[in-house]
Amino acid sequence: MHDPILGGLTPRGFLRTHWQRRPLLVRGALPGFQGVLGQRALAALAARSDVESRLVRRSGMRWQVTHGPIARPLLDRCGRSNWTLLVSGVNLHVAAADRLLRRFAFIPQARLDDVMVSYAVPGGGVGPHFDSYDVFLLQGGGRRRWRICRPRRFTTVPEAPLRLIEGFVAEDEYLVEPGDLLYLPPGWGHDGVALEPGCTVSIGFRAPRGAELAAGFLDWLHARGLPDAEYRDPGLKPATHPAQVPDAMCRYAAEAVRRLRWSRRDIVDFLGEHLSVPKPNVVFARPRRRMTLPVFARRLKRSDAVLDPKTQLLYRGARYYVNGDAFTAPRGQRSALAALADARRAGGRALARAGLADLIHAWYCNGYLQLEAAT
Ligand code: SIN
Ligand code: CO
Repeated sequence: MHDPILGGLTPRGFLRTHWQRRPLLVRGALPGFQGVLGQRALAALAARSDVESRLVRRSGMRWQVTHGPIARPLLDRCGRSNWTLLVSGVNLHVAAADRLLRRFAFIPQARLDDVMVSYAVPGGGVGPHFDSYDVFLLQGGGRRRWRICRPRRFTTVPEAPLRLIEGFVAEDEYLVEPGDLLYLPPGWGHDGVALEPGCTVSIGFRAPRGAELAAGFLDWLHARGLPDAEYRDPGLKPATHPAQVPDAMCRYAAEAVRRLRWSRRDIVDFLGEHLSVPKPNVVFARPRRRMTLPVFARRLKRSDAVLDPKTQLLYRGARYYVNGDAFTAPRGQRSALAALADARRAGGRALARAGLADLIHAWYCNGYLQLEAAT
Protein backbone atom coordinates (compact mmCIF):
# COMPACT_ATOMS: atom_id res chain seq x y z
CA MET A 1 0.00 0.00 0.00
CA HIS A 2 1.24 3.53 -0.80
CA ASP A 3 2.28 5.40 2.30
CA PRO A 4 2.09 9.22 2.42
CA ILE A 5 4.93 9.28 4.95
CA LEU A 6 7.10 7.79 2.17
CA GLY A 7 5.90 10.31 -0.41
CA GLY A 8 3.43 7.85 -1.92
CA LEU A 9 5.99 5.05 -2.33
CA THR A 10 5.07 1.64 -1.03
CA PRO A 11 7.36 0.35 1.74
CA ARG A 12 8.63 -2.22 -0.78
CA GLY A 13 9.36 0.51 -3.35
CA PHE A 14 11.09 2.68 -0.75
CA LEU A 15 13.26 -0.21 0.44
CA ARG A 16 14.18 -1.08 -3.14
CA THR A 17 15.11 2.38 -4.33
CA HIS A 18 16.20 4.39 -1.27
CA TRP A 19 16.92 2.31 1.83
CA GLN A 20 20.70 2.18 2.37
CA ARG A 21 21.14 3.68 -1.11
CA ARG A 22 20.09 7.27 -1.52
CA PRO A 23 18.30 10.04 0.38
CA LEU A 24 14.62 10.76 0.00
CA LEU A 25 12.95 14.08 0.67
CA VAL A 26 9.20 13.91 1.20
CA ARG A 27 7.38 17.23 1.28
CA GLY A 28 4.33 17.14 3.54
CA ALA A 29 4.96 13.58 4.75
CA LEU A 30 2.90 14.39 7.84
CA PRO A 31 1.01 17.61 7.01
CA GLY A 32 0.73 19.94 9.99
CA PHE A 33 3.14 17.88 12.09
CA GLN A 34 4.28 19.90 15.10
CA GLY A 35 6.48 17.35 16.82
CA VAL A 36 5.72 14.73 19.43
CA LEU A 37 6.04 16.91 22.51
CA GLY A 38 6.25 20.59 23.38
CA GLN A 39 9.41 22.48 24.20
CA ARG A 40 8.72 22.50 27.95
CA ALA A 41 8.08 18.76 28.05
CA LEU A 42 11.33 18.20 26.12
CA ALA A 43 13.24 20.37 28.59
CA ALA A 44 11.67 18.40 31.46
CA LEU A 45 12.90 15.13 29.90
CA ALA A 46 16.37 16.63 29.42
CA ALA A 47 16.48 17.44 33.15
CA ARG A 48 16.01 13.75 34.10
CA SER A 49 18.99 11.60 35.02
CA ASP A 50 17.48 8.49 33.39
CA VAL A 51 17.21 10.25 30.00
CA GLU A 52 20.14 10.88 27.68
CA SER A 53 20.41 14.49 26.52
CA ARG A 54 22.90 17.03 25.16
CA LEU A 55 22.98 20.77 24.84
CA VAL A 56 25.05 21.99 21.88
CA ARG A 57 26.02 25.67 21.73
CA ARG A 58 27.89 27.37 18.93
CA SER A 59 29.76 30.60 18.90
CA GLY A 60 31.19 31.14 15.40
CA MET A 61 33.26 28.02 14.72
CA ARG A 62 33.53 27.12 18.41
CA TRP A 63 31.25 24.42 19.71
CA GLN A 64 30.39 23.56 23.27
CA VAL A 65 28.64 20.35 24.30
CA THR A 66 27.04 19.85 27.71
CA HIS A 67 25.80 16.38 28.53
CA GLY A 68 22.58 15.94 30.49
CA PRO A 69 20.87 16.15 32.84
CA ILE A 70 20.36 19.72 31.62
CA ALA A 71 18.86 21.98 34.27
CA ARG A 72 16.17 24.42 33.11
CA PRO A 73 18.04 27.56 34.30
CA LEU A 74 20.93 26.67 31.97
CA LEU A 75 18.55 26.60 28.99
CA ASP A 76 17.06 29.90 30.09
CA ARG A 77 20.54 31.45 29.96
CA CYS A 78 21.27 30.22 26.41
CA GLY A 79 19.72 33.17 24.57
CA ARG A 80 17.75 33.21 21.36
CA SER A 81 20.21 31.85 18.84
CA ASN A 82 22.85 29.20 18.09
CA TRP A 83 21.93 26.38 20.41
CA THR A 84 20.07 23.11 20.27
CA LEU A 85 18.88 20.65 22.90
CA LEU A 86 18.87 16.98 21.89
CA VAL A 87 17.05 14.25 23.79
CA SER A 88 17.46 10.56 22.92
CA GLY A 89 15.04 7.70 23.54
CA VAL A 90 11.97 9.96 23.56
CA ASN A 91 9.90 6.98 22.32
CA LEU A 92 10.49 5.33 25.72
CA HIS A 93 8.70 8.14 27.53
CA VAL A 94 6.25 9.76 25.11
CA ALA A 95 3.47 7.65 23.57
CA ALA A 96 3.22 9.89 20.46
CA ALA A 97 6.93 9.26 19.73
CA ASP A 98 6.43 5.51 20.10
CA ARG A 99 3.42 5.66 17.75
CA LEU A 100 5.50 7.57 15.21
CA LEU A 101 8.26 4.97 15.41
CA ARG A 102 5.73 2.21 14.77
CA ARG A 103 4.78 3.91 11.48
CA PHE A 104 8.04 2.38 10.27
CA ALA A 105 7.04 -1.17 11.22
CA PHE A 106 7.97 -2.34 7.72
CA ILE A 107 11.58 -2.28 8.97
CA PRO A 108 12.47 -5.13 11.38
CA GLN A 109 12.35 -4.18 15.05
CA ALA A 110 15.86 -5.62 15.36
CA ARG A 111 17.05 -2.60 13.31
CA LEU A 112 15.37 -0.06 15.49
CA ASP A 113 17.34 2.33 17.59
CA ASP A 114 15.26 5.15 18.98
CA VAL A 115 13.50 8.45 18.44
CA MET A 116 15.63 11.48 19.20
CA VAL A 117 14.06 14.91 19.40
CA SER A 118 16.02 18.11 19.03
CA TYR A 119 14.76 21.60 19.73
CA ALA A 120 16.79 24.33 18.05
CA VAL A 121 16.68 28.11 17.95
CA PRO A 122 17.87 30.04 14.86
CA GLY A 123 21.46 29.09 14.00
CA GLY A 124 21.18 25.97 16.19
CA GLY A 125 22.43 22.57 15.00
CA VAL A 126 25.08 19.97 15.70
CA GLY A 127 27.30 20.93 12.76
CA PRO A 128 28.25 18.93 9.66
CA HIS A 129 28.66 15.26 10.51
CA PHE A 130 27.78 11.74 9.39
CA ASP A 131 26.05 8.93 11.24
CA SER A 132 26.43 5.19 11.01
CA TYR A 133 22.64 4.92 11.21
CA ASP A 134 19.79 5.10 8.74
CA VAL A 135 17.74 8.04 9.87
CA PHE A 136 14.40 9.64 9.06
CA LEU A 137 14.49 13.33 9.96
CA LEU A 138 11.02 14.68 10.40
CA GLN A 139 10.59 18.41 10.80
CA GLY A 140 8.08 19.40 13.46
CA GLY A 141 7.68 23.15 13.76
CA GLY A 142 9.97 25.86 12.42
CA ARG A 143 12.00 25.68 9.23
CA ARG A 144 15.42 24.14 8.93
CA ARG A 145 18.05 24.12 6.20
CA TRP A 146 19.65 20.74 5.55
CA ARG A 147 22.79 20.51 3.48
CA ILE A 148 23.93 17.03 2.52
CA CYS A 149 26.69 15.27 0.62
CA ARG A 150 27.30 11.68 -0.39
CA PRO A 151 29.54 9.39 1.69
CA ARG A 152 33.30 9.63 1.26
CA ARG A 153 36.42 9.48 3.42
CA PHE A 154 35.59 12.47 5.55
CA THR A 155 38.21 13.97 7.79
CA THR A 156 36.98 15.22 11.11
CA VAL A 157 37.90 18.41 12.89
CA PRO A 158 40.62 17.58 15.46
CA GLU A 159 39.82 18.19 19.12
CA ALA A 160 36.25 19.35 18.47
CA PRO A 161 33.77 18.27 21.16
CA LEU A 162 31.57 16.91 18.35
CA ARG A 163 32.60 14.70 15.42
CA LEU A 164 32.51 17.45 12.77
CA ILE A 165 33.39 17.03 9.09
CA GLU A 166 36.31 19.24 8.11
CA GLY A 167 35.78 21.34 4.99
CA PHE A 168 32.20 20.13 4.51
CA VAL A 169 30.96 20.92 0.99
CA ALA A 170 27.26 20.34 0.38
CA GLU A 171 26.00 18.76 -2.84
CA ASP A 172 22.33 19.34 -2.13
CA GLU A 173 20.38 21.68 0.04
CA TYR A 174 16.81 21.42 1.28
CA LEU A 175 14.78 23.96 3.17
CA VAL A 176 12.35 21.83 5.18
CA GLU A 177 9.11 22.90 6.79
CA PRO A 178 6.92 21.27 9.41
CA GLY A 179 5.79 17.83 8.21
CA ASP A 180 8.64 17.37 5.70
CA LEU A 181 10.71 14.21 5.99
CA LEU A 182 14.31 13.61 4.93
CA TYR A 183 15.61 10.04 4.86
CA LEU A 184 19.41 9.65 4.95
CA PRO A 185 21.29 6.37 4.58
CA PRO A 186 24.36 5.78 6.78
CA GLY A 187 27.50 7.73 5.98
CA TRP A 188 25.88 10.71 4.22
CA GLY A 189 27.29 14.00 5.40
CA HIS A 190 24.61 16.35 6.72
CA ASP A 191 24.29 19.64 8.45
CA GLY A 192 20.92 20.93 9.67
CA VAL A 193 20.64 24.52 10.82
CA ALA A 194 17.43 25.89 12.27
CA LEU A 195 16.07 29.07 10.70
CA GLU A 196 13.37 29.45 13.32
CA PRO A 197 12.73 27.92 16.73
CA GLY A 198 11.46 24.41 16.10
CA CYS A 199 12.11 20.74 16.51
CA THR A 200 13.36 17.83 14.46
CA VAL A 201 12.39 14.26 15.20
CA SER A 202 15.04 11.69 14.19
CA ILE A 203 13.85 8.13 13.84
CA GLY A 204 17.07 6.13 13.86
CA PHE A 205 17.80 2.56 12.77
CA ARG A 206 20.95 0.88 14.00
CA ALA A 207 22.99 -1.74 12.21
CA PRO A 208 25.15 -3.86 14.48
CA ARG A 209 28.86 -3.78 13.70
CA GLY A 210 30.89 -6.96 13.30
CA ALA A 211 33.38 -6.06 16.02
CA GLU A 212 30.57 -5.12 18.44
CA LEU A 213 28.84 -8.46 17.81
CA ALA A 214 32.02 -10.50 18.06
CA ALA A 215 33.09 -8.81 21.32
CA GLY A 216 29.56 -9.19 22.73
CA PHE A 217 29.46 -12.85 21.72
CA LEU A 218 32.76 -13.60 23.47
CA ASP A 219 31.39 -11.96 26.63
CA TRP A 220 28.21 -14.01 26.25
CA LEU A 221 30.23 -17.23 25.92
CA HIS A 222 32.25 -16.24 28.98
CA ALA A 223 29.12 -15.58 31.03
CA ARG A 224 27.83 -19.05 30.08
CA GLY A 225 31.03 -20.70 31.33
CA LEU A 226 34.11 -21.39 29.25
CA PRO A 227 36.04 -24.67 29.24
CA ASP A 228 38.57 -24.35 32.04
CA ALA A 229 41.75 -26.13 33.12
CA GLU A 230 44.68 -25.22 35.32
CA TYR A 231 48.10 -24.70 33.84
CA ARG A 232 50.56 -27.19 35.30
CA ASP A 233 54.27 -27.60 34.63
CA PRO A 234 55.54 -30.45 36.81
CA GLY A 235 58.63 -31.20 34.61
CA LEU A 236 59.82 -27.58 34.66
CA LYS A 237 63.58 -27.14 33.90
CA PRO A 238 65.71 -24.25 35.23
CA ALA A 239 65.13 -21.16 32.99
CA THR A 240 68.15 -19.87 31.05
CA HIS A 241 66.09 -16.87 29.82
CA PRO A 242 63.67 -16.23 32.69
CA ALA A 243 61.92 -13.36 30.84
CA GLN A 244 60.98 -15.54 27.85
CA VAL A 245 57.36 -16.78 27.71
CA PRO A 246 57.66 -20.58 27.89
CA ASP A 247 56.75 -22.75 24.86
CA ALA A 248 54.51 -24.91 27.04
CA MET A 249 52.48 -21.90 28.10
CA CYS A 250 51.98 -20.79 24.47
CA ARG A 251 50.80 -24.31 23.56
CA TYR A 252 48.52 -24.36 26.58
CA ALA A 253 46.94 -20.97 25.65
CA ALA A 254 46.41 -22.03 22.02
CA GLU A 255 44.74 -25.25 23.20
CA ALA A 256 42.49 -23.40 25.67
CA VAL A 257 41.24 -21.11 22.86
CA ARG A 258 40.93 -24.01 20.40
CA ARG A 259 38.61 -25.77 22.84
CA LEU A 260 36.06 -22.98 22.59
CA ARG A 261 32.95 -24.37 20.92
CA TRP A 262 29.68 -22.80 19.83
CA SER A 263 26.79 -23.62 17.56
CA ARG A 264 24.75 -21.47 15.22
CA ARG A 265 21.97 -21.69 17.77
CA ASP A 266 24.28 -20.12 20.36
CA ILE A 267 24.97 -17.25 17.96
CA VAL A 268 21.26 -16.69 17.27
CA ASP A 269 20.51 -16.79 20.99
CA PHE A 270 23.24 -14.29 21.69
CA LEU A 271 21.93 -12.05 18.90
CA GLY A 272 18.33 -12.17 20.18
CA GLU A 273 19.43 -11.37 23.72
CA HIS A 274 21.83 -8.67 22.59
CA LEU A 275 19.25 -6.95 20.37
CA SER A 276 16.51 -7.06 22.97
CA VAL A 277 18.53 -5.97 25.97
CA PRO A 278 17.35 -2.54 27.19
CA LYS A 279 19.76 0.39 27.07
CA PRO A 280 21.57 0.95 30.38
CA ASN A 281 19.37 3.84 31.54
CA VAL A 282 16.05 2.06 30.95
CA VAL A 283 13.96 1.39 34.06
CA PHE A 284 10.68 -0.49 33.86
CA ALA A 285 7.86 0.89 35.98
CA ARG A 286 6.27 -1.96 37.91
CA PRO A 287 2.57 -1.53 38.73
CA ARG A 288 2.14 0.00 42.19
CA ARG A 289 -0.78 -2.20 43.16
CA ARG A 290 -0.38 -5.47 41.34
CA MET A 291 -3.35 -7.62 40.34
CA THR A 292 -3.05 -11.19 41.56
CA LEU A 293 -2.90 -13.87 38.88
CA PRO A 294 -6.61 -14.91 39.15
CA VAL A 295 -7.80 -11.28 38.97
CA PHE A 296 -5.38 -10.57 36.13
CA ALA A 297 -6.41 -13.69 34.17
CA ARG A 298 -10.08 -12.61 34.30
CA ARG A 299 -9.22 -9.06 33.20
CA LEU A 300 -6.90 -10.34 30.46
CA LYS A 301 -9.79 -12.10 28.68
CA ARG A 302 -11.58 -8.82 28.04
CA SER A 303 -8.52 -6.65 27.37
CA ASP A 304 -5.64 -6.19 24.97
CA ALA A 305 -2.11 -6.81 26.20
CA VAL A 306 0.06 -3.91 25.03
CA LEU A 307 3.85 -4.04 25.21
CA ASP A 308 5.40 -1.16 27.08
CA PRO A 309 7.37 1.13 24.70
CA LYS A 310 10.53 0.11 26.58
CA THR A 311 9.97 -3.59 25.91
CA GLN A 312 11.73 -5.32 23.07
CA LEU A 313 10.18 -8.70 22.24
CA LEU A 314 11.85 -10.52 19.35
CA TYR A 315 11.72 -14.10 18.16
CA ARG A 316 13.23 -16.60 15.82
CA GLY A 317 11.63 -20.02 15.46
CA ALA A 318 10.71 -21.31 18.88
CA ARG A 319 13.12 -18.97 20.67
CA TYR A 320 11.77 -15.72 22.12
CA TYR A 321 13.81 -12.83 23.49
CA VAL A 322 12.28 -10.38 25.90
CA ASN A 323 14.35 -7.52 27.25
CA GLY A 324 17.56 -9.53 27.15
CA ASP A 325 16.18 -12.91 28.35
CA ALA A 326 15.67 -15.93 26.09
CA PHE A 327 13.12 -18.70 26.40
CA THR A 328 11.60 -21.44 24.24
CA ALA A 329 7.89 -21.13 23.60
CA PRO A 330 5.90 -24.39 23.37
CA ARG A 331 4.47 -24.98 19.89
CA GLY A 332 0.88 -24.08 20.91
CA GLN A 333 1.95 -20.66 22.20
CA ARG A 334 4.15 -19.49 19.37
CA SER A 335 1.64 -17.91 17.02
CA ALA A 336 -0.07 -15.92 19.82
CA LEU A 337 3.31 -14.71 21.10
CA ALA A 338 4.53 -13.86 17.60
CA ALA A 339 1.35 -11.83 17.01
CA LEU A 340 2.02 -9.89 20.22
CA ALA A 341 5.67 -9.36 19.27
CA ASP A 342 4.93 -8.20 15.70
CA ALA A 343 2.00 -5.87 16.46
CA ARG A 344 3.14 -5.08 20.03
CA ARG A 345 -0.48 -5.54 21.01
CA ALA A 346 -2.68 -8.63 21.09
CA GLY A 347 -6.14 -9.64 22.23
CA GLY A 348 -5.97 -11.04 25.76
CA ARG A 349 -8.51 -13.76 25.00
CA ALA A 350 -6.24 -15.32 22.36
CA LEU A 351 -3.24 -15.10 24.71
CA ALA A 352 -5.19 -16.72 27.54
CA ARG A 353 -6.49 -19.44 25.19
CA ALA A 354 -2.87 -20.23 24.26
CA GLY A 355 -2.10 -20.78 27.96
CA LEU A 356 -0.05 -17.60 28.25
CA ALA A 357 -1.85 -15.96 31.20
CA ASP A 358 0.96 -16.82 33.66
CA LEU A 359 3.70 -15.46 31.44
CA ILE A 360 1.74 -12.33 30.53
CA HIS A 361 1.04 -11.78 34.23
CA ALA A 362 4.76 -12.06 35.03
CA TRP A 363 5.53 -9.51 32.32
CA TYR A 364 2.82 -7.22 33.67
CA CYS A 365 4.39 -7.49 37.17
CA ASN A 366 7.78 -6.54 35.67
CA GLY A 367 6.29 -3.52 33.91
CA TYR A 368 6.95 -5.09 30.49
CA LEU A 369 3.34 -4.66 29.35
CA GLN A 370 0.01 -3.23 30.37
CA LEU A 371 -3.62 -4.15 29.81
CA GLU A 372 -5.79 -1.79 27.82
CA ALA A 373 -9.43 -1.83 26.71
CA ALA A 374 -9.82 -4.31 23.86
CA THR A 375 -9.89 -2.72 20.39
C1 SIN B 1 19.46 17.34 14.97
O1 SIN B 1 18.28 17.02 15.17
O2 SIN B 1 19.87 18.49 15.14
C2 SIN B 1 20.48 16.34 14.55
C3 SIN B 1 19.92 15.20 13.84
C4 SIN B 1 20.99 14.54 13.01
O3 SIN B 1 21.71 15.20 12.33
O4 SIN B 1 21.11 13.31 12.99
CO1 CO C 1 22.99 13.16 12.09
